[in-house]
Amino acid sequence: MVMSERLSQIPDSYFGKTMGQKVEHGPLPLINMAVGIPDGETPKGILDCFSKAIHIPENQKYGAFHGKDTFKQAIVDFYQRQYQVALDKEDEVCILYGTKNGLVNLPQCIVNPGENVLLPDPGYTDYLAGVKLADAIPVPLVLNSPDYLPEWDKVAQSVLDNTKLIYLTYPNNPTGSVATQNVFDEAIKRFKGTKTKIVHDFAYSAFGFDHKNPSILQSPQAKDVAIEIFSLSKGYNMSGFRVGFAVGNKEVIQALKKFQTHTHAGMFGALQDAATYALNHYDTFLEEQSATFKRRRDLFEAKLAEKHIPFEPMKGGIFLWLATPEGYDGEQFVKYLLEEQSILVAPGIPFGEHGRNYVRISLALNDAQLLEAANRLQSLSALYHKEGSVCDDKN
Ligand SMILES: Cc1ncc(COP(=O)(O)O)c(C=O)c1O
Repeated sequence: MVMSERLSQIPDSYFGKTMGQKVEHGPLPLINMAVGIPDGETPKGILDCFSKAIHIPENQKYGAFHGKDTFKQAIVDFYQRQYQVALDKEDEVCILYGTKNGLVNLPQCIVNPGENVLLPDPGYTDYLAGVKLADAIPVPLVLNSPDYLPEWDKVAQSVLDNTKLIYLTYPNNPTGSVATQNVFDEAIKRFKGTKTKIVHDFAYSAFGFDHKNPSILQSPQAKDVAIEIFSLSKGYNMSGFRVGFAVGNKEVIQALKKFQTHTHAGMFGALQDAATYALNHYDTFLEEQSATFKRRRDLFEAKLAEKHIPFEPMKGGIFLWLATPEGYDGEQFVKYLLEEQSILVAPGIPFGEHGRNYVRISLALNDAQLLEAANRLQSLSALYHKEGSVCDDKN
């Protein structure tokens, strides 16, 4: 076999396998609710900046390995303005060619073979491959309904003692749960002075419906323990650009930067200029994005509630986490929804064992489609209220 043993023991990426594939569905027009990014376009000012920037001769050549000063300064200013967090632009900032890149490479940078890495279950699918590429041991950090927050006392001390890295992500993909500052304060307090580091994946930072999403770096002494990974993909509709950054703990940032000097030769200068422009000029756009998804959340949840279809309250992000009706696991329900209602959603199982009986529904659709999807789902309410089922009002 050509593929290395290490790579072949990593399961294929679920979304890598399914994205872009032709979908077989029932007679109704297809509504795709499996999409993982907001449906809008990159703001015009960012596009204009990018197109001008590609003509700048300096941007056509190798640049500084660790990024332009202007980009790093924009990151520092953004964190100060948005979260009142002060960062050192040389030691506490690492630019990333898409945050997936940083999230997957991080274990190779700081975890030794045989050490534990705690992964939220349910949680984002791509962390696992990174843990396996580092020959480390993935351990599920079980998040329970309805808040899907870490319950540290439920993790065995012997597991924690051998844990080098913990992934957290709020707003959570797939559950739509969010963290308060207290959640982060507690995590930092718990792991300060231990060998355990925390990475907080802040991909959906912009989308908080009942309060602004806190940064883990706002917690006291957070920089001793944590880094935060910030993506421009979702908030600014820039997923195709592939740009984000990591900020926080110096030693972790240094390790990531060292890795990058061996795997990258700097980030395309025009991309850095576009990202700089986004960070410096589009705070209001982030608020508008959140308002759009809050309005959609309100509409969609009201429609489900009207028919007593149970769902996990969506407090942030762009996804709603829906339990399957009795008799269906997530994959079976995905198939049923496609055949009967021509609605494509993501099954819960790629997000971990605790996602088995759920599906993830993306609200990245225009209002008309969202309403149509909600109406189609309403017509399934009988599945949730079979005589004797847990959701039956009579029980
Ligand atoms: C929770 C989470 N983290 C990270 C990413 C990666 O985003 P990007 O690499 O575009 O920054 C995604 C993308 O879907 C995500 O859902």
